[in-house]
Amino acid sequence: MNALDIRHYDHRQSDELRPLLLDVYAEVYAEAAKTDPFAGVDRFAQGLDGWSRRPGWSCVVGYDGDQAVGYAYGAPLPPGAPWWGGLLAEVPADVVEETGTRTYALSELMVRVPWRKTGAARKLHDALLADRPEERATLLVDQEHPKVHALYESWGWRTLGDLRPRIPGAPLFHAMLLDLPQR
Ligand SMILES: CC(C)(COP(=O)(O)OP(=O)(O)OC[C@H]1O[C@@H](n2cnc3c(N)ncnc32)[C@H](O)[C@@H]1OP(=O)(O)O)[C@@H](O)C(=O)NCCC(=O)NCCS
Repeated sequence: MNALDIRHYDHRQSDELRPLLLDVYAEVYAEAAKTDPFAGVDRFAQGLDGWSRRPGWSCVVGYDGDQAVGYAYGAPLPPGAPWWGGLLAEVPADVVEETGTRTYALSELMVRVPWRKTGAARKLHDALLADRPEERATLLVDQEHPKVHALYESWGWRTLGDLRPRIPGAPLFHAMLLDLPQR
């Protein structure tokens, strides 16, 4: 692999990026989509459109030469974020109190198979979260994917508790948090 070229985007480029993000998703989740309607491209496209319309949306895409190898995106949680609505764990109210500037939600991270175990995923993750002004980040990992959960733990994320989004067919997730360096 050549050195990974990581490019940064925001909501102003979301229309232009959309086909690439959907193509990579369709490839990465092809197997999962055969049995899990929640992994279908249509549902993903709806989610992507919702996220990428947010003014604070940011995205990084990794390129190896002219090939997109994967990407990550997210956005800050607004006050009263529905994100926490499906939290099943009992936590003090202030843990899930959002201000609009407190928490960056890492919504998606995916890497095409030929670039797995090359460090590309970690680089995309780090590039997306580098220089964020928020105090912490959050993500959801499917409880049926314990190895991905362990991977995030090895990257410093801690598990807050169980969460099932209030979306029909949504799986059970681990909600995770990561403190971001304060500048
Ligand atoms: C998650 C991801 C970006 C990590 O890439 P990476 O750092 O190169 O790490 P790997 O691909 O080796 O993944 C680590 C382990 O998790 C497993 N894993 C990864 N994604 C998985 C998934 N969706 N379902 C089940 N297991 C998965 C891998 O098989 C691997 O297990 P192994 O060590 O026994 O081979 C990449 O695996 C990926 O794109 N997965 C599909 C999309 C995904 O699940 N994203 C995370 C959403 S929270």
